[in-house]
Amino acid sequence: MINNFTYNTPTKLIFGSGVIKDLPNVLKEYGKNVLLAYGGGSIKKIGLYDEIYKLLKDFNIIELSGIEPNPKYDPSVLDGVKLCRENKIDVILAVGGGSVLDCAKAISICALYDGEGWDLISGKAFPKDNIPLVDILTLAATGSEYDASAVISYTKINDKRGFGTPYIFPKVSFLDPRYTFSVSKWQTACGSSDAINHVLEQFFNSDSSIINDNMMTSVIKSLMVNVKIALEEPDNYSARSELMYASSLACNGILANGTGRSGWPMHSIEHALSAFFDITHGAGLAIITPQWMREILSDNTLNRFKILGKNLFDIEVNNIKDAEVVIDSFYKFFNSLGISMHLADLGVKEESIDAMADHILKYDSTVGSHMYVNLDKDALVRILKA
Ligand code: NZQ
Ligand code: ZN
Repeated sequence: MINNFTYNTPTKLIFGSGVIKDLPNVLKEYGKNVLLAYGGGSIKKIGLYDEIYKLLKDFNIIELSGIEPNPKYDPSVLDGVKLCRENKIDVILAVGGGSVLDCAKAISICALYDGEGWDLISGKAFPKDNIPLVDILTLAATGSEYDASAVISYTKINDKRGFGTPYIFPKVSFLDPRYTFSVSKWQTACGSSDAINHVLEQFFNSDSSIINDNMMTSVIKSLMVNVKIALEEPDNYSARSELMYASSLACNGILANGTGRSGWPMHSIEHALSAFFDITHGAGLAIITPQWMREILSDNTLNRFKILGKNLFDIEVNNIKDAEVVIDSFYKFFNSLGISMHLADLGVKEESIDAMADHILKYDSTVGSHMYVNLDKDALVRILKA
């Protein structure tokens, strides 16, 4: 059954090879003063930076560079806010992966807020306005280009927070798969693992339908097949284009329309991991996924594993043992992408597990209220230790 739902994604996607020729037309709707936000320089190596300057010769460009992976409130968001205010920025152009986009999203609301910006990110206060945001995506992973969420870290207080508000939907996202040819094997593997996990978080839901189950497993299948091709042939346009489209669909909610409530427990666990150890988001998720599945596997959830087994691995699931084979298949798949399946290999220290479990329970109510299993502290410690 499809339950009642309301759905609205106001972001315009412009997808395909060469699409950024329309950038000046899109930006001029908002004004001349552009904040160009980008990361550590990958956009210069692929020639995109120069392309942007050629296209935007009639605009005033102010730069915010050096946005970190797992973007930081201090300095990046605060620096961006200052630049927006000092230069009367009309529109923010974010060029990069999820970190650059998320940082730009936070800047877009904090710059027009009189109080402490972290209050908007931590949910203590709510935005009422924003500077328009346009982006050019260079890494297929988070789906930030097509959603109303962002994740920001605040190192001073060991916190990494996801937040959502319609004010941070990008106005327009330019998706040219060619810009992802240069993404390293590691980031390609982690990006696809992230997107696969986004679908899985929504797949373990209180209700389902043939439409939802098959849309979701189709997106996962596309990611699983095409990430393998992209790792072998980084400039395979067909594979990169599927990864890009699938990642955008994976996180924006469209796949879960009409299904019941779900939490995002694996993301809550991962956000604690990267808050404490600054690890790559998709790698943390790849490691957590099979361990979380083992924790929630029961007769109640068998039906979900049945569909995953049939649609993704050609495995018929009739009992718990069969479902364990499906979980092992996920483990082997992530491992085959070059991701070590042990948190210790990412620098995570066993002595911090207790503190991380407390952190997860303190900041995310969905972990304790997921429809299948209310993960308590013991369960979180088991997942992290495993
Ligand atoms: O900084 P540069 O030089 O651009 O290099 C980046 C960075 O080092 C590099 N890269 C990006 N595009 C490239 C490239 N290298 C070569 N060629 C290219 N075309 O890749 C590295 C990682 O980039 P990053 O943006 O950090 O990766 P990703 O897109 O995976 O974003 C991760 C962040 O997004 C958050 C994560 O928590 C993490 O902070 N998430 C955001 C979500 C959202 N907004 O909805 C949902 C996700 O679940 C996730 O939590
Ligand atoms: Zn994610």
